Amino acid sequence: MKKNRFHASCLALGAKCKTCLLAPAFAVAMSLTLFPSSSWAQEENGFAKINVVEDFADNGFQWFRDAQLLCAGNQESSNAMTIGWGGIGTLWGRTAMTVYVAEKRYTKSFMDNSQYFTVMSFDFTQGKILDYMGRNSGRDGDKAKALGLHTAYTANGTPYYTEATMVIECRLMYAAPFDPKNFKDDVPQRMYSNFPAGVHTEYIGEVVGAWVKGSPTNATINSMMERRSIRKYKDTPVEHAKLEQIALCGINAPSGMNQQPWEIRVVEDYSFIQELTDIYKKAHAEEVNRDAGFKNMFRNAPNIICVATPKGRGQLDAGMLAENMMVAAQSLGLGTCCLGGPVRFLLSSPDAKPYLDRLGFSPDFELLYILAVGYPDEFPDAKPRDAAKVKYIK
Ligand SMILES: Cc1cc2nc3c(=O)[nH]c(=O)nc-3n(C[C@H](O)[C@H](O)[C@H](O)COP(=O)(O)O)c2cc1C
Repeated sequence: MKKNRFHASCLALGAKCKTCLLAPAFAVAMSLTLFPSSSWAQEENGFAKINVVEDFADNGFQWFRDAQLLCAGNQESSNAMTIGWGGIGTLWGRTAMTVYVAEKRYTKSFMDNSQYFTVMSFDFTQGKILDYMGRNSGRDGDKAKALGLHTAYTANGTPYYTEATMVIECRLMYAAPFDPKNFKDDVPQRMYSNFPAGVHTEYIGEVVGAWVKGSPTNATINSMMERRSIRKYKDTPVEHAKLEQIALCGINAPSGMNQQPWEIRVVEDYSFIQELTDIYKKAHAEEVNRDAGFKNMFRNAPNIICVATPKGRGQLDAGMLAENMMVAAQSLGLGTCCLGGPVRFLLSSPDAKPYLDRLGFSPDFELLYILAVGYPDEFPDAKPRDAAKVKYIK
């Protein structure tokens, strides 16, 4: 199963996820008070209340695909199952969440007999929860118990698991099975022609509460936590407007006494990359031949951003410029990798010199690093971060 991406866990774990696409639309559409009821139970269990309209920062088109957990029932009995289908948005003037439960799921009877349900996220270290909950039925035994999950209840009595990283509670507004006579094309027809679990029932709930573990995140924090060094890119060139936005974010980084000790060259001409790579290949034939996926010397990126500083100074400022650009790129759905190897090649190879010259840096400036930029074709896990390096002097 694909690993989950949850902003609630990003703070602590550096999980992968995409930046919010829906939040602005929600914000415009909604002005509801979403949390009328007490949240004491969640807060006791380490959750902080969020307002999904403002704080939900995942990509709504991706969120359910990544798999979530649906739970319904009451204090006497409850059941949960993994869901990969669903929707979030606005309906009847309410912040709404829709889920789809097939006829034969054990969870269905709990959904049919409950006024509320919860949808929960888990972080990527808890992948086995969603896997187990999606492969086993509560009919055959208590899945939560088998996984060692702790059931707690919202103020409305809706069950959720304290191990979740995010809990969204919904009050049911509508439920109905799909009616085959209303299928408008063969997509649903084909789906149900061979689907032993039966037709899905659509459940639409109003979001009445949402809680995350730790502090609510925001889009900037998400971009920082999600950024990884990308070494595999799609061939698609990055749009000029995005490169321009990235560069603008870069030069908005702070610099000592606002000296802005940098010069930036955004390379959009792929022949520059290709020709330089041809030179590189001649010098590093063995290394290139070993790399089956080798497309170019900039970790296969379709675009690069070259940054130079005055010889012997400005590196700190240029470092802040780099991080601004990488976080901006991340927020635009792009990947980056800060490269030093190609810099050494450009500075040392006589054959590469014309390309260095073409970048046109001022005479007293020297190339410091090159950012590979492009649409990522891999989603690597975060490397472990050592939190012990941070000490708090209180
Ligand atoms: C990734 C994934 C996504 C799933 N999405 C759905 C879904 O949206 N709707 C559904 O009815 N079943 C879905 N399932 C299947 C149920 O989770 C699965 O049949 C589960 O065992 C049902 O448990 P239950 O019988 O205890 O209710 C999904 C399973 C997985 C692994």
